[in-house]
Amino acid sequence: MSYPDELTRLLESNLKELAYGEMPEVAPLGEAMQYSLLAGGKRVRPVLLMATSQAFGRQPEEMLPTAAALEMIHTYSLIHDDLPSFDDDDLRRGQPTCHVKFGENVAILAGDALFAEAFRLICERQQGDAAVLLEVIREISVATGLKGMVGGQYLDVSGIPDDDGEALRLLHSLKTGRLIMACVHCGGLLAGAPEKELTNLRVFAAELGLLFQIKDDILDVVGETAVLGKQAGTDARLDRHTYVSVYGLEEAERLALRSRDEALKALDRVGGSTEALAGITNYIYERHQ
Ligand code: IPE
Ligand code: IPE
Ligand code: MG
Ligand code: MG
Ligand code: MG
Repeated sequence: MSYPDELTRLLESNLKELAYGEMPEVAPLGEAMQYSLLAGGKRVRPVLLMATSQAFGRQPEEMLPTAAALEMIHTYSLIHDDLPSFDDDDLRRGQPTCHVKFGENVAILAGDALFAEAFRLICERQQGDAAVLLEVIREISVATGLKGMVGGQYLDVSGIPDDDGEALRLLHSLKTGRLIMACVHCGGLLAGAPEKELTNLRVFAAELGLLFQIKDDILDVVGETAVLGKQAGTDARLDRHTYVSVYGLEEAERLALRSRDEALKALDRVGGSTEALAGITNYIYERHQ
């Protein structure tokens, strides 16, 4: 049940090959996109997609366009999340944030372009049946839209009622969980997993997504800036509702453990070779960054 590091390496070298400099007039914008995309990061989302498709017998290399697209979309969300009008953070992936390095207007555009280029990459490069590809694109657009990541970011910045555990759970499952679910779901879809397995995978991914954000909330309090590669303490500075602010640190740790156990239990019901997915689940629970 170890983490599939070889998938991280595969993704990393694929991202380096993506070119943004074909049109010299806008090459500096491409540079800002690449700056954030290649700065590092755990690459959990593309690894999840590839590990899921592998569980159903497919080669990870076949999934690289969609895997890279998911990392591009995630990177766009981080660039916008760090902007002064959002979390106003100066450090990301161990480097100055995109807006600090290139200015706020360019950072906004770098995020916008990463989002659009991600869909272009899938349309132009992902192999697969046209109906499956359409379903992949639909799933990713739902996961990133109003009923997904962007809706969750809205709830985060506009505020939810104090001490409302249900509202907080919804916030987390939208802002972070929904994209993670899309990674797992699309991995299953592209591998041709049967409908019943897609349902099982989604139950697993919902718990995994919640675990991911509970852990992110905990690390914002107990993590070290140098290890995280981003400033610790941002949530308290912004008075955000998190699992730590609502439940306290000890209970948040307990809820993270419960989510990990629930995720592993749900994974047991998924057919196929799910060892790598179990390894990723444990990594997400144990991580320090
Ligand atoms: C941070 O995501 C933002 C959240 C959704 C919590 P990650 O913790 O995956 O950040 P990177 O990609 O490793 O930098
Ligand atoms: C960001 O959540 C979620 C998205 C970017 C969609 P956070 O604001 O908690 O992420 P970090 O802690 O800055 O990485
Ligand atoms: Mg935020
Ligand atoms: Mg943030
Ligand atoms: Mg956070």
